[in-house]
Amino acid sequence: MNMIKATLLSAVLALTAPAAFAAGGGGKKIDDIDFSFDGPFGSYDVNQLQRGLQIYTEVCSACHGLKQVPIRTLGDAGGPSLPEDQVIQYAKNFEVFDAELDDFRPALPVDHFPKSSISNAPDLSLMAKARAAFHGPYGLGINQLMKGTGGAEYIATLLHGYTGEEKTQAGTTLYENPYFPGGWIAMAPPLYDEAVEFQDGSENNIEAMSEDVAAFLMWTAEPKMGARKQAGFAGVLFLTLLSVLLYLTNKRIWAPVKYKD
Ligand code: HEC
Repeated sequence: MNMIKATLLSAVLALTAPAAFAAGGGGKKIDDIDFSFDGPFGSYDVNQLQRGLQIYTEVCSACHGLKQVPIRTLGDAGGPSLPEDQVIQYAKNFEVFDAELDDFRPALPVDHFPKSSISNAPDLSLMAKARAAFHGPYGLGINQLMKGTGGAEYIATLLHGYTGEEKTQAGTTLYENPYFPGGWIAMAPPLYDEAVEFQDGSENNIEAMSEDVAAFLMWTAEPKMGARKQAGFAGVLFLTLLSVLLYLTNKRIWAPVKYKD
């Protein structure tokens, strides 16, 4: 009886729990952000990914690499979807070391983004999947299905969550950020209002840019999210149909027994 009560209680809690749970290690609670890619039918917003790419290129790439990401995927459908000539042009922003030439050359679309250029700046390719703002799964996992695990929320909130306080510890300057586990991060606030100018005049305050670059980093971490969700939907649809057919078949098979007289 107690078991049943506990199960029911956890199910009710899962359904009513607020969207956000505190991040581990003393990080401050992170609120859900309504990203276009949330939920079972969500998909990336191409314009947002292109803005995020621009912010990454102009700001973050000074320190952070994306070494798992091939530059050519910027042209993939479901991603930033740059036209081919722009992908070729974009690749020239970076230099790669060519072992055959024994020298550096401009990058080509087949190359990957470079590694981090600062040794203590982590590679960001998979960061949106390596961090979570909401932990779980709790109960039925409905919260996770609808809002994801909050990696993008964590990155976005971290980027505009600085308090402005700093201190020097063992020769390193640390910046206070209540969303970072431990509260002090070695990354200086990288974004500020109007840090980047968008061609189409999109909003470039610090919150908007934080969300754009977080969405872009979600794409680098899970470039095939759209395909995954479509396959999942097709699977659920197929199983639903199969259940109906099996139910009807079962009825048919047992009908002579059930209605014998
Ligand atoms: C001047 C160099 C520099 C720039 C520019 C920079 N970062 Fe960082 N970043 C760092 C360093 C160093 C760390 C490691 C901080 C630590 O572990 O205390 C870091 C850590 C991070 C982390 C990991 C936090 C964690 O939970 O471990 C994320 C996410 C991040 N940066 C995102 C960005 C984004 C997005 C941009 C561009 C808007 C950016 N950074 C620009 C130096 C930089």
